[in-house]
Amino acid sequence: MSVIYLIGFMGTGKTTTGRMLAHELQYTFYDMDEVVVDMASQSISDLFAEYGEDGFREFETKALQSLPLEKSVIATGGGAILREENRNYMKENGRVVWLDASPSEILKRVKEDTSRPLLAQDKKRAIESLYEKRENTYKQAADFKVATDGKNTEEIVGEIRTLLSC
Ligand code: S3P
Repeated sequence: MSVIYLIGFMGTGKTTTGRMLAHELQYTFYDMDEVVVDMASQSISDLFAEYGEDGFREFETKALQSLPLEKSVIATGGGAILREENRNYMKENGRVVWLDASPSEILKRVKEDTSRPLLAQDKKRAIESLYEKRENTYKQAADFKVATDGKNTEEIVGEIRTLLSC
C-alpha cells in the first residue's frame, strides 16, 4: 500500500510533515483542504458559511475519494475522521498515521489563525472540547500514532518512516 494518510487535530503539523515525508519518499503530496477549496472554488470559511459543517463534510469525502492511490502522502483535514465512511476508506486504501499533540500545544500553534471556522470563537475552549470529543475517534481511525509535542518536523518524519519501514 503506497498511500500514507496523516490524520490529527488542527494544528498538529499534518501539512508540514506531509510535505517533507512526501519529498523524502518521492511520493506526491496532497492537502485535502486545498483539494476541497479547488473543487468548490470557495474558501473553507465560505463553505462552512454557505453549506454548514455537514455540507463541508460532503466536499471533504468527495475530495478524499478523488485522490490517487499510488505513492501519495495525504494530509487530511482535522475532521475527516468523523465520518465512518472516511475512516474505512483510509484503512482500506493506505496506512493511517495519527499526529497527536496536546491541546495546549495546539493552542500555541493556531493562536493567530483565522482560517478555521471551528476555532473562530473562544479558541482555548473550542480546542479542549473538540479534542476531548475526537480523541477516541483518532485512535480508532489510526494504524499508528506519533506524539508531536516538543519534536521538530525532521524528527516526526523520521518516526513515521521507522514505524512504516519506508
Ligand atoms: C477542520 C480542520 C481543518 C479544516 C476545517 C475543519 C476540523 O483542517 O478541514 O477547518 O474539523 O478539524 P486542518 O486540520 O488542516 O486545519
